[in-house]
Amino acid sequence: MTRILGIETSCDETAVAIVRDGCDIESNVIASQIDLHARYGGVMPEQASRAHLRAILPTLEEALASAHADWSSLDAVAVTHGPGLAGALLVGVNVAKGLAFAQKKPLLGINHLEGHVYANWLDAVEAPDFPLVGLIVSGGHTDLVLADAHGRYRRLGRTRDDAAGEAFDKVARMLGLGFPGGPLIERAAQDGDPLRFRFPRAWLEPDTWDVSFSGLKTAVLHGVRDLGIDTDHATPQERLAKLPVADLAASFQAAVVDVLATRAVRAARVFGASRLVLGGGVAANRTLLKTISERADVQVLCPPPALCTDNAAMIAAAAYFRFRAGERSTLALDVEPNLPIA
Ligand SMILES: Nc1ncnc2c1ncn2[C@@H]1O[C@H](COP(=O)(O)OP(=O)(O)OP(=O)(O)O)[C@@H](O)[C@H]1O
Ligand SMILES: [Mg+2]
Repeated sequence: MTRILGIETSCDETAVAIVRDGCDIESNVIASQIDLHARYGGVMPEQASRAHLRAILPTLEEALASAHADWSSLDAVAVTHGPGLAGALLVGVNVAKGLAFAQKKPLLGINHLEGHVYANWLDAVEAPDFPLVGLIVSGGHTDLVLADAHGRYRRLGRTRDDAAGEAFDKVARMLGLGFPGGPLIERAAQDGDPLRFRFPRAWLEPDTWDVSFSGLKTAVLHGVRDLGIDTDHATPQERLAKLPVADLAASFQAAVVDVLATRAVRAARVFGASRLVLGGGVAANRTLLKTISERADVQVLCPPPALCTDNAAMIAAAAYFRFRAGERSTLALDVEPNLPIA
């Protein structure tokens, strides 16, 4: 049995978890900063670092206590070292280094995006199989990857501009909804007509796996303006009162989902994947999962919504397979804000 303590502070959640054998969650504690950042309508990096500093030790203590774990029973300390906000990553990486040194435990630096893929191993009825195509859709990334074994990735494509989650957040603001925008757009879209507005899908060149959402975002902005909103000055209340928010949200969501589903399903087919796995905050979107599941010829896996968004259990899960393969980081581990998945 291998028990790994995972730490995640790459963006706006301070999270610590203990996971057994890469799949069994013994504790999974998340201190969210959503209320702090909602006031500004986005994540404020300086505030995020300070909030991580305040939250990290209580979060660690709670994770140890709720797993009934003491240090003698833990095999390694894993931490997200990139990608993410530099000042936020520094908090987790330094705490992890301090703990690994003081407790004489192996240290593993983990890629946050790899963590989003490994959320699919947590509490899974059936563990994912290789080769797999992974669609990582989050606030900062939209990556399509092919993995033929643990830790062996090839990035097939990515967004050329906005990440999918970023597009959800920006469009939510245009419609007068709050932050983070993804869940609010999904809720508003439930009562909306996805065919009312024909928003564009950017298919780019025929041979690319990349996606692009900036044209879609601009089309929604123009749509909102055409409906009589002063897009520079209108308050959220004016937007909500004047706009057909449900239909706009449903039509926007349909465009994002159509592009992501088309790319992911085709990649799984072309590369002969045995599984298509989703991860990242946008994977919490049930319309995305439903559409991909309907269109794919292979089994589609997606973590429960709470494990799609940032957490430390996924970091401990990813670390387990690297730990088992003999990988270790040294105390020289540093943050890598722009670390790619492959
Ligand atoms: N139900 C949903 N539908 C669509 N988008 C969603 C949903 N729930 C969350 N999101 C989006 O997911 C994003 C947050 O995901 P996540 O926590 O994985 O991102 P991040 O960690 O900030 O970015 P990254 O993982 O790229 O560093 C936000 O943009 C949010 O709007
Ligand atoms: Mg994330």
